[in-house]
Amino acid sequence: MNFPVTRLRRLRRTPALRNMMRETVLTAHDLIYPIFVTHGSGIKEEIPSMPGIHHFSIDRLKEEIDAVVKAGLQSVLLFGVPEHKDEAGTSAYAEDGIVQQAIKAVKAWAPELVVIADTCLCQFTSHGHCGVIEHNPLSGAAEIANDPSLELLVRTAVSQAAAGADIIAPSNMMDGFVYAIRTGLDQAGFEQIPIMSYAVKYASAFYGPFRDAAHSTPQFGDRKTYQMDPANAREALREADADVAEGADMLMVKPALAYLDVLRLLKESFDLPVAAYNVSAEYSMVKAAAANGWIDERAIVLETLTGMKRAGADLIITYHAIDAANWLQGN
Ligand code: PBG
Repeated sequence: MNFPVTRLRRLRRTPALRNMMRETVLTAHDLIYPIFVTHGSGIKEEIPSMPGIHHFSIDRLKEEIDAVVKAGLQSVLLFGVPEHKDEAGTSAYAEDGIVQQAIKAVKAWAPELVVIADTCLCQFTSHGHCGVIEHNPLSGAAEIANDPSLELLVRTAVSQAAAGADIIAPSNMMDGFVYAIRTGLDQAGFEQIPIMSYAVKYASAFYGPFRDAAHSTPQFGDRKTYQMDPANAREALREADADVAEGADMLMVKPALAYLDVLRLLKESFDLPVAAYNVSAEYSMVKAAAANGWIDERAIVLETLTGMKRAGADLIITYHAIDAANWLQGN
């Protein structure tokens, strides 16, 4: 049989038809914009490996928050780059810590903006690991101590909620972290604050530029004992199962692009909202190619983010968020 116009092509003939048949529509409400905050004043410093992304001191943060609101975004994710680091990451849970200060400032400027706090220790520890270090009594080897780390993470989460964070996003991958943080938040009277769990976080080379940005490269070893092996997908279900049982309100897959199958698997296996983290190297690679004139940045970014949503992401954390939201508005 030979049709002049096939059935599929009949549905694609005009822009209006394509609009009507479209299965996935990306909007600014899907996007979460990560922001790096640092001590000091007058600082707006570009991260060399992430063109367009800056470190902001609080007095310069307002201009970025204005851009976020103007683009029609509803949510930001705050990362701290502190002045002071020590073995126990004390500035992560200090009442006047950099993230706590930033949360207060943002909520004062834009109360309707959903402020998500990254809850981790690696930017705040001198050794750059996401927990505290203990020496194994038998071998003497330095190891990440799970339960003592949990205690500090709970303090961090509670202090962020007390500063006004709307969502707590623990990214540390210690065992039992969701349960510990849920219990800690509830006991402190923050039952209403949801937990967005980095349930499925791979030990990935795609975090390279972020670690430069956050000065959080581990000083010894790597994160392979607490982050997942990129070769495993079924293990992601076990990680997510645990987090759901412990009280997670949302699940996250990180990184996004090389793990869209995992995103889909989670989406089909759980009824909680699923977020994708379009991480730093995914961003940097696009920016580098675009700077060379090798790709059409706008088209590549919108296609990529649409692909993540199609794969199952209800939310996408992305450094492209301001640009993408402006493009979606036709700006
Ligand atoms: C650390 C953390 C990392 C990222 C977010 N939180 C890096 C890591 O695990 O080393 C990476 C984000 C990105 O690459 O954009 N808790």
